[in-house]
Amino acid sequence: MAASAIYTNPEAKSWTYTYETDISLAQAFHSRLPGYKATPLVPLDDFAQELGVKAVFVKDESSRLGLPAFKILGASWGTFRAIAQQNGLPLDASLEEASKAAQEAGTTLFAATEGNHGRAVARMAKILGVQARIFMSRFSDQETVHKIESEGAQVTIIPGNYDNAVATAFAESRKASGGLLIQDNAFDGYEQIPAWIVEGYSTLLFEVEQQLEEHGLQATMIVTPIGVGSLGHAVVAYCKSGGRHIEVLTVEPETAACLHHNLKAAEWSTIETSATIMNGMNCGTVSPISWPVLYKGVDRSITVSDLECHHSVQHLQAHNVNAGPCGAATLAAVKKAAPIDMPTQGLTDNAVIVLLITEGTRSYPSPATVLFANH
Ligand SMILES: Cc1ncc(COP(=O)(O)O)c(C=O)c1O
Repeated sequence: MAASAIYTNPEAKSWTYTYETDISLAQAFHSRLPGYKATPLVPLDDFAQELGVKAVFVKDESSRLGLPAFKILGASWGTFRAIAQQNGLPLDASLEEASKAAQEAGTTLFAATEGNHGRAVARMAKILGVQARIFMSRFSDQETVHKIESEGAQVTIIPGNYDNAVATAFAESRKASGGLLIQDNAFDGYEQIPAWIVEGYSTLLFEVEQQLEEHGLQATMIVTPIGVGSLGHAVVAYCKSGGRHIEVLTVEPETAACLHHNLKAAEWSTIETSATIMNGMNCGTVSPISWPVLYKGVDRSITVSDLECHHSVQHLQAHNVNAGPCGAATLAAVKKAAPIDMPTQGLTDNAVIVLLITEGTRSYPSPATVLFANH
């Protein structure tokens, strides 16, 4: 299903959010992980000048805890919390304690994925010394499968789409003794672990805050890619809480714009999706625990084509930012939004814009080549 144009919610500007849990626990956990350090916040001065805004930064998640995407922040915290809860461990327990408890309980981690989440869960299983079983849709490419297998996980490709892969992962986790589903989207009866995964993503936003403070700046707009909306949920929660009124612009592939479609219809529903180079964003259903937050707190939502995204990958490469398509989608979104609503909404000369570059470079079929081949 293709979607286009920009969606705006003027009421989101004054909407506020209150965290229900102490998310600093997630930050403390991440800082205890081996190899933890804040990812870079890189200025894009040329682009800021071109847009006529004060500053544009990219939060570069191309190398996060040794993986080429941000997802390990959520997968690690979600897995740790689930194991801690199952085994009665305190939230300041060490990884070694969690690992021992998971091994003794015969835990196997299960997940469905378009790539990055599954690899992050597989890596957590490796760190904890337990098995992982990962389920993927028919859109999956061999290279991604190999990367997940390289973490020691068993990968199964199912004939259906991402939503079908989630259903299969859930069913298989129920059948296996010690099966534990670590899924980054909620569904009826499965809400707690996705909520912890959302909490885990908040670490990158608090890093952004600290990094901007070093420049004497505060963000006025954060641009985030959307798949099932868990990252977007974390972004909205951060942007609309603690006295912050930061604008949120979301971006999705034209062929998998579930949030954009739902926002316009003011109603949660599932849509059909088709292949896109923005694999991690190829999702047809917004996570139901995230939908109410996104509905109230997203200021603007836009969709981009594979070709627009590909051009932004090239733009970032020219500035030494090694972004994959899901990350570059945020640059494509601002480029597309700018001529439509500049300078009235958000893109003013005081604007400090942060683009979340959620994954590093990876190979994908060039949309320019695909277009050429089709004509
Ligand atoms: C690289 C990348 N960016 C963005 C997203 C979207 O995140 P979410 O599914 O939480 O909306 C994903 C999801 O897998 C991803 O892998």
